[in-house]
Amino acid sequence: MWHAWRFCYVCKSVLFSAANTSFHPPEPPVDHWGLDTPLPTFPVTYTLGRKHGVTQILGEDGKVVETFRPYYISKDKFLKDTERMITMITDGPLKSFCYRRLKYLENKFQLHVLLNELRELHEQKSVPHRDFYNIRKVDTHIHAASSMNQKHLLRFIKKKMKTEADTVVLEKNGRKVTMHEVFTNLGITAYDMSVDMLDVHADRNMFHRFDKFNAKYNPVGESTLREIFIKTDNYVNGKYFAEVLKEVLSDLEDSKYQQAEPRLSIYGRSKDEWDKLAKWAISHDVWSSNVMWMVQIPRLYDIYKAKNMIKNFDVILDNIFTPLFEVTNDPSSHPELYRFLQVVSGLDSVDDESKHEYVQFDRTTAQPENYVDSENPPYSYYLYYMYANITVLNAFRRSRGMNTFALRPHCGEAGHVNHLVAGYLTSESISHGLLLRKVPVLQYLFYLTQMGIAMSPLSNNSLFISYNRNPLPEYLMKGLNVSLSTDDPLQFHFTKEALMEEFSIAAQVWKLSSCDMCELARNSVLQSGFEDKVKIHWLGPSYREEGVTGNDVSRTNVPDIRVSYRYEAMVDELTNLFRTKHL
Ligand SMILES: *[C@@H]1O[C@H](CO)[C@@H](O)[C@H](O)[C@H]1NC(C)=O
Ligand SMILES: *[C@@H]1O[C@H](CO)[C@@H](O)[C@H](O)[C@H]1NC(C)=O
Ligand SMILES: *[C@@H]1O[C@H](CO)[C@@H](O)[C@H](O)[C@H]1NC(C)=O
Ligand SMILES: [Zn+2]
Repeated sequence: MWHAWRFCYVCKSVLFSAANTSFHPPEPPVDHWGLDTPLPTFPVTYTLGRKHGVTQILGEDGKVVETFRPYYISKDKFLKDTERMITMITDGPLKSFCYRRLKYLENKFQLHVLLNELRELHEQKSVPHRDFYNIRKVDTHIHAASSMNQKHLLRFIKKKMKTEADTVVLEKNGRKVTMHEVFTNLGITAYDMSVDMLDVHADRNMFHRFDKFNAKYNPVGESTLREIFIKTDNYVNGKYFAEVLKEVLSDLEDSKYQQAEPRLSIYGRSKDEWDKLAKWAISHDVWSSNVMWMVQIPRLYDIYKAKNMIKNFDVILDNIFTPLFEVTNDPSSHPELYRFLQVVSGLDSVDDESKHEYVQFDRTTAQPENYVDSENPPYSYYLYYMYANITVLNAFRRSRGMNTFALRPHCGEAGHVNHLVAGYLTSESISHGLLLRKVPVLQYLFYLTQMGIAMSPLSNNSLFISYNRNPLPEYLMKGLNVSLSTDDPLQFHFTKEALMEEFSIAAQVWKLSSCDMCELARNSVLQSGFEDKVKIHWLGPSYREEGVTGNDVSRTNVPDIRVSYRYEAMVDELTNLFRTKHL
């Protein structure tokens, strides 16, 4: 008979065991979530009310507390600003002006490279120890449900088919179904399973077909497997999803210099979603020092409405935001959520942007509590209401010394350019921004404000725009604040280090220099939601300063020559703008 044996480094003996038993008592778990620290308490708690889709923080007199009043951004103000932006982006002379400035920036950068490429390289070489491999890079846009590559998911499923065949994994029509039965019903054995059968990889049939793309999320084209393996809220309480994610996290930790901001979902169908998610994260200890979590909110009002799960749009907002206000008001109302939120850096808004929008957002659009249409509200409506809530929520959290959340939606991947206007007005940074290439005025504004754009050219290669036409190299030349991210390694990547794969392909196709890559990496850290003290460790103590003062080449490996070029180009643009105000 065969025995598995291992040497135990703690008790210094050879141990024989069956595969699964542990050899010696495990180390006590680390308290990642501060479970031993008491929750903070506050002398005042406010009453929470709601009006026109915005949560209100009310004092004893029933009026909005004075401190928070400036943070209520009215719908009228948002619509007025939107109209102003639309006038701007369609103005002919302004379009030409911005187009020329952007072209000028692009050409100027090429001149800079011609003149200084060797000097940049020399400066990089003269920094001891630091190279592209050991600078920090953050995957600023990745979905947790597809953060493992297909081989990884396959290996995981096979392992579970063998070791947990008799575990009940779901309940169908009141009958308990085991793992073994699920696969028997599918007609698959562990040996049969291959990457091809898993069929989650994007292929050439998917170009411009987001519906097909979403179907690819289901391994073996079968939603049962998705339900079992990549959901946080299912019959096994998200156990398998937690396990596979922890493997992804441990791979990240091994690589040390790669960090990520994976998206977990909140849908807004019921009030307890946040508590469940927090409970899932804490009970499975899904935690890593290489990760800050983001929460993505799919724009699925029309689907919930059609299934009669909600009465009006306000129900979704209420389910998403009220728990966040409650836990800020009184942490003991949702103790687990309070702890989980400390590692959440922002909210994302996701869905297919290319869907036609049947409803307009203007002054006549119904307030959320009266929005009972069967059609989905438009993109800007979602974004405005998320923004209005987050602004107040952040002011509230800041006043209590808690971390705040950034709004970082998917934006400008497809669909109407109005999405970009809404994103520009409301968000901290955006993911994709492909359509900026068609709107010079907005692109120039993104440049002037250095608004972050997380781009994933491999993902867009499959879906909307082929790789070599992706505007990333052009944006980078002009000096827009772009970073590289992976989006969906399950569908698009082949290796364990998806972010490196993304960098590697970009470098080959677009002939990026080592300096370009380090600049992209530095942008990704700046765009990420990691804490200030972490960024100081990665980028240097004065990273918030402008120009060369803010750059520490011994940590970022971005040459001062490049940083000062960017700074001077920006100052030039601003000077020029104020000079040509009369145009
Ligand atoms: C904020 O959240 C509340 C739920 O508490 C919701 O009713 C409201 O519509 C949201 N407002 C905005 C501006 O998102
Ligand atoms: C890039 O964008 C992020 C926000 O996404 C911002 O914090 C950062 O300062 C920007 N970078 C520069 C160089 O301004
Ligand atoms: C490319 O476009 C698709 C379709 O909208 C989007 O889902 C994907 O996230 C985009 N990827 C990147 C990396 O921009
Ligand atoms: Zn995405």
